Amino acid sequence: MRIAMIGAGYVGLVSGACFSDFGHEVICVDASRDRIDGLNRGEMPIYEPGLADLVAKNVREGRLSFTMDLPTAVSKADAVFIAVGTPSRRGDGHADLSYVYAATRQIAESIHPDAIVVTKSTVPVGTGDEVERILRDVRPNHSIEVVSNPEFLREGAAIGDFKRPDRIVIGTTNERARKVMTEIYRPLYLNEPPLVFTDRRTSELIKYAANAFLAVKITYINEIADLCEAVGANVQDVSRGIGLDNRIGSKFLHPGPGYGGSCFPKDTQALVKTAQDEGVALRIVESVVSVNDQRKRGMARRVVGALGGDARGKTIAILGLTFKPNTDDMRDAPSLALITALQDAGAHIRAYDPQGMEAAASLLTNVTFSENAYACVENADALVIVTEWDAFRALDLGRVHALLKTPILVDLRNIYRPGEMRAKGFVYVSVGRP
Ligand code: NAD
Ligand code: UGA
Repeated sequence: MRIAMIGAGYVGLVSGACFSDFGHEVICVDASRDRIDGLNRGEMPIYEPGLADLVAKNVREGRLSFTMDLPTAVSKADAVFIAVGTPSRRGDGHADLSYVYAATRQIAESIHPDAIVVTKSTVPVGTGDEVERILRDVRPNHSIEVVSNPEFLREGAAIGDFKRPDRIVIGTTNERARKVMTEIYRPLYLNEPPLVFTDRRTSELIKYAANAFLAVKITYINEIADLCEAVGANVQDVSRGIGLDNRIGSKFLHPGPGYGGSCFPKDTQALVKTAQDEGVALRIVESVVSVNDQRKRGMARRVVGALGGDARGKTIAILGLTFKPNTDDMRDAPSLALITALQDAGAHIRAYDPQGMEAAASLLTNVTFSENAYACVENADALVIVTEWDAFRALDLGRVHALLKTPILVDLRNIYRPGEMRAKGFVYVSVGRP
């Protein structure tokens, strides 16, 4: 199959590289010259474990290439995937579909009469209908089919998720489109992931329903963690105790500073907006959105509390800035709200992150970035662990203790054990544990 992937970001680049690794001929198109020039030099625009090697291998073997020339790439493709961004629309929280529709208009100009168009971007119900309308307006005589094929990969584990998915959702009722999609994903059948064939609107909704459910699960355990603190219970044991019930499942029950990232925040908001437009109340998701927003900034109270109630003039070391480990993505990272709140409380912020500092520097002001974790904590009044990078899980705690001005450690990801930390002389605060 010849595939044109429009958008070479987290989803487009990973999907394109994986499809080419399955043996398809893939050309990734991006509107950013820097991105395409970099990719043609072998430089990855994002940090994703294993991606550089996968891209290099498939470029070398002639199955993967990068271009800004959308018309040529699209004209030769059997399937054109749309993987451009769908951020929150400023002001109202709806998904901003301008990139999707702009890409569709460009695709319409040069698409092959028999090609299919596949939306991989996360798009609200009905977007596929509008994409189809745009294509049919420009190409009334083509037999173009528009398919929904939402992506469920996680950043930091993207290649594994793409190659070993829990399921593949394909929204189309057209037999020809179904055959093309089946052929594209055929190399995955060895692992037998369930293929969910459904209509396009249902497929679009499955994506939002999945992300919102995961956001609900995280927010639920975050609130249970708060209750644990109030009643002297241990949230880790609660997570294990409920997660062993197969009906609940153990994943996404880790409490923390609130979910962030490029997707849960915008997708929960967009789902609420869709429901409101339809006159349907999604009160659970509405609550989750507001509870999570308050939680991120609210984490600052925990830090100020550990400092004795006053952060003015204090230096706080922050370890971890990205919304999760193994990515350089800073979109809606909890660290942003936390750091701003601590600065509002009068604190000086020093920070270190293995991959996120470049992106963070453009989003934060008056933060001093350090070269490594130890330089970051030196002479600080408190240390806050915000992202659970592996590199922070086995810090030399004796050294950290000696470097800190006062041995206060606020662990927002529960990566250390309270008893051990206190035995080492730390004033240790975590989430939902006595
Ligand atoms: P991204 O911002 O990393 O990448 C989007 C890319 O599209 C950019 O490089 C941009 O330059 C390019 N682009 C925009 N308009 C274009 C056009 N007309 N022609 C060519 N290129 C164009 O976005 P992302 O994180 O990869 O997300 C893409 C979509 O996938 C979103 O809808 C998102 O919700 C969804 N999604 C993301 C993830 C994730 O982990 N990031 C996972 C599942 C689904
Ligand atoms: C999430 C989904 O997991 C993917 O299936 C989906 O494809 C993607 O969104 C998307 O649509 O873009 P991602 O945002 O990469 O993937 O990362 P997650 O691992 O889901 O984490 C999201 C946030 O939730 C992070 O801030 C993380 O720290 C937080 N989280 C996650 C918790 O606080 N506790 C948990 O138990 C799990």
